[in-house]
Amino acid sequence: MTICALLIEDNPGDARLIREVLREADAGHGAVELRHADHLTRGLEQLAGEGVDVVLLDLSLPDSQGLATFVAVRAAAPTVPVVVLSGLDDEGIAVRAVQEGAQDYLVKGKVDGGTILRSMRYAIERGRVEAARRDLERQRDEFFSSVSHDLRTPVAAIKAAIGVVLANEPAEMPSGLHRLLGNVDLAADELAGLIEDLLQIARLRAGRVEVWRSEVDLRDVISRAVRAIEPLLATRAQRLEMSLPEQRVEASVDAEKIGRVLRNLLGNPQKYGREGGKIGVILERQPDAVCISVTDDGPGIPPEEHDRIFERFYRVSESSSAGPMGSGLGLAIARGLVELQGGRLWVESARGAGSTFRFSLPIR
Ligand SMILES: Nc1ncnc2c1ncn2[C@@H]1O[C@H](COP(=O)(O)OP(=O)(O)OP(=O)(O)O)[C@@H](O)[C@H]1O
Ligand SMILES: [Mg+2]
Repeated sequence: MTICALLIEDNPGDARLIREVLREADAGHGAVELRHADHLTRGLEQLAGEGVDVVLLDLSLPDSQGLATFVAVRAAAPTVPVVVLSGLDDEGIAVRAVQEGAQDYLVKGKVDGGTILRSMRYAIERGRVEAARRDLERQRDEFFSSVSHDLRTPVAAIKAAIGVVLANEPAEMPSGLHRLLGNVDLAADELAGLIEDLLQIARLRAGRVEVWRSEVDLRDVISRAVRAIEPLLATRAQRLEMSLPEQRVEASVDAEKIGRVLRNLLGNPQKYGREGGKIGVILERQPDAVCISVTDDGPGIPPEEHDRIFERFYRVSESSSAGPMGSGLGLAIARGLVELQGGRLWVESARGAGSTFRFSLPIR
């Protein structure tokens, strides 16, 4: 199959040389169709058209220099793989280019045609694998979303029916049966919660969640979330300490969503924290932001897991072995809801040293 490569290179000598070494490496098989642009803007114009499989990019161009050149190409065509072909043998820039998403960083004069050709082929192949992965992810999202939708109605029907049964329970109902009915009621609540989480994740990923801001005192939002979790804390003899400023902490936020974030962040130490442990909630006002932290004295989370716990469906196996497993959606939803409001959510923790989940929201 012929590869269509776009070479963005301003030096005519270099461009000619690259064309030649590629032709040699290709040994007349016609496997590469090479297009050429000598300015970034012209390269971007060609990219806007169809058919380019891979870009060979020089970073120093008349109208753009350094890593910014790569960033511009990436932004214009996020799915087209880019191999940087630079005159600059700079390890630092090479690493940064690859971190930004370049497939390879080759130094002109130090590579032969065969190497460039192979690098382009691999880049295209990786691009294909990545596209297939994205497609699978999209299908998975759609599947979860449609199944969750379909489950909503029957679960609501179970919940309603069990409510009627519980309200009309005869006095002589055996206690064993009464307990079973209660279990069905609880399980229906859990299932409804899980379905809501799945729908929320799907909506967040599709960018279909709207922010409804209103002016609120954040101390009230925190107190409400704490009240909701308190009965559960009692079941594991956990204590909660709040530290809120004396004065009102006004902010224009989506209070319902912040409440949900807090319930997620408080629910985790309730489940994974120490029996009889302590959970702290601190609200701090900063010059142009507010910061809310939830701290526990539980098992902690090793640093290598700090990114992964925010991925959907991800659970740290150790902390979950202590009790019932969650679905691994809480933190992904919490981060999504915070970022939607222009904020940040992160964790500070080490194994055995408790965890602090902190989020900041800009005050506008
Ligand atoms: N405070 C904490 N202490 C120790 N481990 C934690 C803490 N918070 C989260 N984790 C770990 O991070 C994982 C992901 O948390 P997350 O809230 O996303 O999912 P979950 O609690 O498992 O399920 P869900 O919140 O959807 O019910 C948890 O399974 C747990 O292993
Ligand atoms: Mg959770």
